This record gives sequence, structure tokens and C-alpha cells, in this order.
Amino acid sequence: MKNKPSTLGEFIIENQNQFRYSEGELSRLLNSIKLAAKVVNHEVNKAGLVDILGSAGETNVQGETQQKLDVYANEVFMRTLKDRHIVCGVASEEEDDFVAINKDDGGNDHKYVVLMDPLDGSSNIDVNVSVGTIFSIFRRISPVGSLATKEDFLQKGRNQVAAGYVVYGTSTMLVYTTGYGVNGFTLNPALGTWYLSHPDMKFPSMGKIYSINEGNYVHFPKGVKKYIKYCQEEKDDRPYTSRYIGSLVSDFHRNMIKGGIYIYPITTASPNGKLRLLYECNPMAFLAEQAGGKASDGYQPILDIEPSELHQRVPFFVGSAEMVTKAESFMKKYS
Ligand code: AHG
Ligand code: MN
Ligand code: MN
Repeated sequence: MKNKPSTLGEFIIENQNQFRYSEGELSRLLNSIKLAAKVVNHEVNKAGLVDILGSAGETNVQGETQQKLDVYANEVFMRTLKDRHIVCGVASEEEDDFVAINKDDGGNDHKYVVLMDPLDGSSNIDVNVSVGTIFSIFRRISPVGSLATKEDFLQKGRNQVAAGYVVYGTSTMLVYTTGYGVNGFTLNPALGTWYLSHPDMKFPSMGKIYSINEGNYVHFPKGVKKYIKYCQEEKDDRPYTSRYIGSLVSDFHRNMIKGGIYIYPITTASPNGKLRLLYECNPMAFLAEQAGGKASDGYQPILDIEPSELHQRVPFFVGSAEMVTKAESFMKKYS
């Protein structure tokens, strides 16, 4: 009998045969992401310390100007993906446009594009609260051998071949899916090894947590306001409890383990919502569905939305299936 894989490296190799057309390319890509995540993790972990040194002399010990962590994370992921010659293009929250990796840099011959939010929850960096990285992977539409095009990036979420996140929390975890369920790996920082700690993760079908920035309450659509009141009502298994970290990755991760719903609706200030479809909502929606949960814009599955722009925003309802369905019923009733 085969041993169960216990590290991320072993797991990727063991499951390589799931990617019929990949010839190891997707495995190499996942390996690069896991490497970049370790580098970012190292930096996130000493953020407070570096700040102290930085404020004393304004430059660090190497005489370099201290970079903002989200710019740093972007650079680490961009560099890792470019230098290792494994993708034909990358799009990021931190880049105005997508980056097509040209022939000289080994880009044209590769099959995959990556879209990412290199550092999610940046408002939490300075206060020692969990942040994350989100990634989404598609096969290109344009022919191999040519330069990646916008169409390679503007695909609906249903076409994703892999997606995941890293949560830099009390421990650092990498959680991902390739369409065969969701698995979570915890980093042992002393060894630099990711261990399979959360095999086959599943959203409880029902939960008792709702996560939403209630400070925006007066600006929410009526359906969301009514749903919040429903969550707070003293009836059946309610009231639910409210938990909002302000890092999508962390709020999602907690809700997947405990059961709950995360909502970022449209507001008066953000008429399309705040979160970005391509590198925040799509990957989380893929993970949610793979974990038996649900992701919606209030009316339709996130994964069915045809994107029109790289930095497109959408309202986002994600979490335990029964809770998302309930919230959708309020949206429909009060629209
Ligand atoms: P980012 O740091 O990548 O810009 O994303 C922040 C997002 C998301 O992680 C979080 O849930 C949400 O913004 C918080 O927004 P509010 O502060 O408006 O609640
Ligand atoms: Mn984000
Ligand atoms: Mn970000």
C-alpha cells in the first residue's frame, strides 16, 4: 500500500496525473508559488522588527530603502514566476496591465497564466494581523509559441485549472485546489517544509458566522440590510455571531473551517463592490465550490461571470452553501 503524501512537494508529484495535458508544467508552477510564499512569509514575519530598525535610521542595515510589503510581495511573486520560465503571463493587483513574458524570457512556450493578489488585507500589515496571497491559474487561449494576450486573462472563473491562497497567520498555510477538492498545508518554518495538515477541506453546509464591514451598513443594498437583520434576529439557531478581520483570505479561511458567510456588497461609494473578480473573487469562488461551499455576486455564481476588465470589481457573497443561498434569497426579494 502506498503511503499517503505528507508534504506539499510529495502531494504535487503524487497528483500530477490529474493534469492530463500538463507535462509537469503546472506542478512546476505550483512549486514556484510555494517557494515565493516562503520568501514573503519570511518578510511578513519580521515586518515589525524591520519597522523598528527602519524608523531608527530610515534605511535598513544593507542601506536599502524599506519597501512596502505589498510591493515587496508583488516583486517576489513576479520575479519567481518570470525567472523560473514557467508561465506565459502574469496579472497582479499591483500592476496596471498584465505582463506577457516574451520569448527572450522564455514566456511564449508556456501554457499557463497566473493572476494574483500578492498581499491581501494590506491594512492589517502594520498591526500584526493576518494577511494573505491569492492566486488563480488558467490555461492560455492564445496559441503556444506566441505572446500572451488579454483574452488569456479575461476568462471566466469556471475555466480555472488551479487556485489557492496563502494565509500568513498564527501559522502560515497554503490552501489550494486543482479541481479535485481543497487541501491545506501548514509551513514548518524551522524546516521550510509544508505539511498536509488539512486534507480535503469542506465548508460546513451551514454556519453561525457572518463577516461583513458593518460600518458601511447605511450604504448597503436593502437585501443585504435585511439579511444582516435576519442574522441578528433571535429565532431558531440565531442570532449568528459577527467576525470581520478585513483580510478576505483570513475571513474566508476561518469561515471554511467553522462555517460562515463573507459578504462584500455594493455600497454607495463602490457601486460595483470593492473586491476584484479576477484575482480575489474567482480563486476564492473556485475554492469555495470545491469545498462544497458557494460563491455568488448576490444573483449568479461568480464563476459564470464573463470578465470584461482586468481590475473589474464585483459584489461578493461566499461561504457555507445554505447561508449564501439564504442571502441570495434576500437579494432577490428586495432588489
Ligand atoms: P487588498 O489588501 O488586497 O487591497 O484587499 C483588501 C480587501 C479584502 O482583503 C478585505 O476583505 C477588504 O478589502 C476589506 O475592505 P474594507 O476595509 O472596506 O472592509
Ligand atoms: Mn485583496
Ligand atoms: Mn492586495
